[in-house]
Amino acid sequence: MIQKLNISFIGGGNMAHSLIHGLIDNGADVSRIKIGEPNHSRRKELSKSFKVEIHEDNLSSIKNSEIIVLAVKPHIVETVITDLTEKISHSKTLVLSIAAGITIQNIESWSRPDIPIIRAMPNTPSLVKAGITALCANSYVTLNQKKKAESIMSAVGTVLWLEDEKLMNIITAISGSGPAYFFYFMESLVQAAILEGIDEKLAKKLVLETTIGAAQLASETQESLSILREKVTSRGGTTEAAIEVFEAYDVNEVIKKAVSAARIRAKNLAIPSGDNNG
Ligand SMILES: NC(=O)c1ccc[n+]([C@@H]2O[C@H](COP(=O)([O-])OP(=O)(O)OC[C@H]3O[C@@H](n4cnc5c(N)ncnc54)[C@H](OP(=O)(O)O)[C@@H]3O)[C@@H](O)[C@H]2O)c1
Repeated sequence: MIQKLNISFIGGGNMAHSLIHGLIDNGADVSRIKIGEPNHSRRKELSKSFKVEIHEDNLSSIKNSEIIVLAVKPHIVETVITDLTEKISHSKTLVLSIAAGITIQNIESWSRPDIPIIRAMPNTPSLVKAGITALCANSYVTLNQKKKAESIMSAVGTVLWLEDEKLMNIITAISGSGPAYFFYFMESLVQAAILEGIDEKLAKKLVLETTIGAAQLASETQESLSILREKVTSRGGTTEAAIEVFEAYDVNEVIKKAVSAARIRAKNLAIPSGDNNG
């Protein structure tokens, strides 16, 4: 299916780059991929990476496309979709938006209410094909269009469908922003290791391998996360000493508050701010 998709990306930034990379690796035909990207230096970078058609203006980039991927910052979606609407050929063109916080209803109100729209929330591990994407469709999306959207997103990782779009904000806060939480924790662990006398290279290796190993163990075993944690935490041992400190500072509560802040921010993302994405 992926080989014959005529697909346009509006915005050729980080996420579009990951997706195009995944598509090409999975056998997509480069002559069927187009990008609309107004930033000159970005266009130059993209043309070094991919032999696809790259346009300065979005309208030229959507010619003959059956799928338009909106991969611009959330506060730009309204302008972009308003400009494209009259060229979108009704039910034949699927709009696939990856913009955090922009609802299907937002896009319908900025374009036409009868356009097939899929809202997606991917994450940055898509760059190494280890992403997870939640998808949600409006009632105009056909089964075939759903399959096409799924084939695009599954080129860069796992895909799941949501019946209830309301879950998108919390999913943004968990898996959209989630990689950054783990990087934050990993950075802190590297800093702690360095402070305790380990050199930076070794500290990074220890932390990376431990993170990958813990994730792999958690995904391959039937045991719950709590059991896995308890298995490392022997009474009076080193892990228990560390966990006691986490608990004394109520890290669990801090994480809940952080996720809640991200979810609330996701709701307001159509409004410009210094922050830049999901
Ligand atoms: N990064 C993540 O972790 C993540 C996760 C899930 C979802 N998302 C969503 O994915 C979307 C893209 O994020 P990103 O990280 O790829 O952003 P990005 O790297 O900034 O890419 C957006 C690109 O769109 C370009 N652009 C600006 N105005 C445009 C216009 N009118 N028409 C076409 N292109 C235009 C930007 O150029 P300039 O740089 O010149 O403005 C930039 O190259 C966002 O809506 C974000 O919410 C991101």
